[in-house]
Amino acid sequence: MVDETRIMVIDDEPLMRITVQDALAADGYKVTTAETAEKGLTLLRENPADILITDLKLPDMDGIQVLEEVKTMNPDTQVIMITAYGSIDSAVTAMKAGASDYLTKPFAMDELLLIIKRLLRMRQLEEENISLRKRVEERYGLEGLVGKSPQMLKIYDLIETVSQTDTTVLINGESGTGKELVANAIHFRSLRKNGPFIKVNCAALPETLLESELFGHEKGAFTGALKQRKGRFEMADGGTLFLDEIGDISFGVQVKLLRVLQERQFERVGGNETLSVDVRLICATQRDLKEEIQKGTFREDLYYRLNVVPVILPPLRERREDILLLADHFVDRFSKKMGKEIVGLSKDAKTLLLRYPYPGNIRELENMVERAAALIKGKVIQAEDLPEEICGGETPVRNICEKIRASKPLSSATRFFEKEYIQSVLEKTKGKKGQAAEILGISRKTLWEKIKELKIEI
Ligand SMILES: Nc1ncnc2c1ncn2[C@@H]1O[C@H](COP(=O)(O)OP(=O)(O)OP(=O)(O)O)[C@@H](O)[C@H]1O
Ligand SMILES: [Mg+2]
Repeated sequence: MVDETRIMVIDDEPLMRITVQDALAADGYKVTTAETAEKGLTLLRENPADILITDLKLPDMDGIQVLEEVKTMNPDTQVIMITAYGSIDSAVTAMKAGASDYLTKPFAMDELLLIIKRLLRMRQLEEENISLRKRVEERYGLEGLVGKSPQMLKIYDLIETVSQTDTTVLINGESGTGKELVANAIHFRSLRKNGPFIKVNCAALPETLLESELFGHEKGAFTGALKQRKGRFEMADGGTLFLDEIGDISFGVQVKLLRVLQERQFERVGGNETLSVDVRLICATQRDLKEEIQKGTFREDLYYRLNVVPVILPPLRERREDILLLADHFVDRFSKKMGKEIVGLSKDAKTLLLRYPYPGNIRELENMVERAAALIKGKVIQAEDLPEEICGGETPVRNICEKIRASKPLSSATRFFEKEYIQSVLEKTKGKKGQAAEILGISRKTLWEKIKELKIEI
C-alpha cells in the first residue's frame, strides 16, 4: 500500500520541498513537488494524488483556494495544510474547508509521517467498510431482501434509484413475493428514513372506516366519532405512507386519493379545514390493475398517478436460483429464534424444495422452514420434515390447478404441467431417456426436443 501512495508537495521554499520529498521518499512514498499552486494543480489534474501537502501561503494563490480546487477535482485527495507558527485561525479555516489535518511551521518530519500514516489507515478502514458492506449485500441482497437472481439484482438497483427520489411507487407481485419488504427497503434507504413509515392495509377495512383511517375525522363526523382523530396521511407527514392492497379500495376512496395525489391536500372526514402534508406514497397490490380498469373497478387516472415507478416482483418459481439461498436464510433465522442448533437441509430436502412451484411464494417457503425447524429433533432438516404437498405423493389434479393458477393462460399451464410430468418420469427412470420416452409414449427425438424446449434439467 505504501509504495502505491502518491503524494504531492506544493511549497515555494526549495529547502522545504527537498526535505519533505527526501523524508517521504525514504519511507517508500511516490512524491512529486511543485513550487507554485498553478504548477501543482496542473500536475494534479493529469495525475491525482492520494495526499496533498501544501503551504497555506503560496506566491500565486491562497492554500485554501488550492484545497478547494483539488477537492472539486478529486474529492478523495486528502489535504495536509502547512501553516505559519501561531496562526491558529488559518488552521481552523483550513480544517473547515475540508483539510484532513494541519501542521505548523517548523515541524519535525516524524510528525508529518505520523499524520500521513494515520490518514492512510483511516482511508483503508473506510475502504474495508465499504467492501464489507458490499460483500454482505452481494451475499444476502439488500435491507433484509435475500436473493441473487438477475431479477432480484434488478430490483435492488431499482430500489436504490427510486429511494433517492420522492416519486410514487407501485409494487406489484403475487402474494408472498416480498412487496412489503420492498416498501420497507425503499423507505429506509431514502432521505425520509428518519421520518415516520406508516402502513395501511386497505383490504382490511370497509369504505367508511378506511376513509377516516386515511384522512382522519372531526369530532361528531359520524356516530361513534367521539373525538377528533388524525388520519394516516397526517401521521406520515415528513415520511412515507405505504398503502397495501391498493387494488381493493372502493371508488369513493379512489376519488379522494386522486385528489391528494394531485393537490397534496385533503380534509378530515366531517371537517372543513384543508390540510396539506409532505408524504411519499408507496402502494402495493397483487391484483392486475390494468385488468381492474377494464372491469371498471379501478380508475385509470388514479392508476397512472400511482404507477409512476412500477416495481414488479417476480414469483419465486421464476427465480429458482434463490430458493436454497432463501431456505438457508430461514434455517438460520429460525434456528436462532428457536434456540436450536440446525445446520441446514439434507440433499433430498433441497431437491424437493427446488422442484416445488411455490404458489404462496417466499412466505410459503418461510412457513415450511419454520414448521420443519420447530418439528425436527436432529440437526439437519430432512425431506420427511417438509409438508406433504411438496414431498410428491399423489397430488390431486385440482391441487395442481390451484398451484399453477398464477400462470393463467392455458398454454403456459399446459407447458408447466408437461415440464413437471416429464421431469418426474425422468426421475423415475433415473435419467434413462429411452425408458422415459416409452412411458411417455413419445419418441426419443421428441423427448429430446421437449427437454430442450422446456429447459428440463436432468
Ligand atoms: N427477498 C426476500 N428475502 C427474504 N425474505 C423475504 C423476501 N421476500 C419476502 N420475504 C419474506 O416473506 C414473507 C412475505 O413477504 P411480504 O409480506 O413482504 O410479501 P407480500 O408480497 O407483501 O405478501 P402479501 O401479498 O401476501 O401481503 C415475509 O415474512 C418476508 O420477510
Ligand atoms: Mg403484503
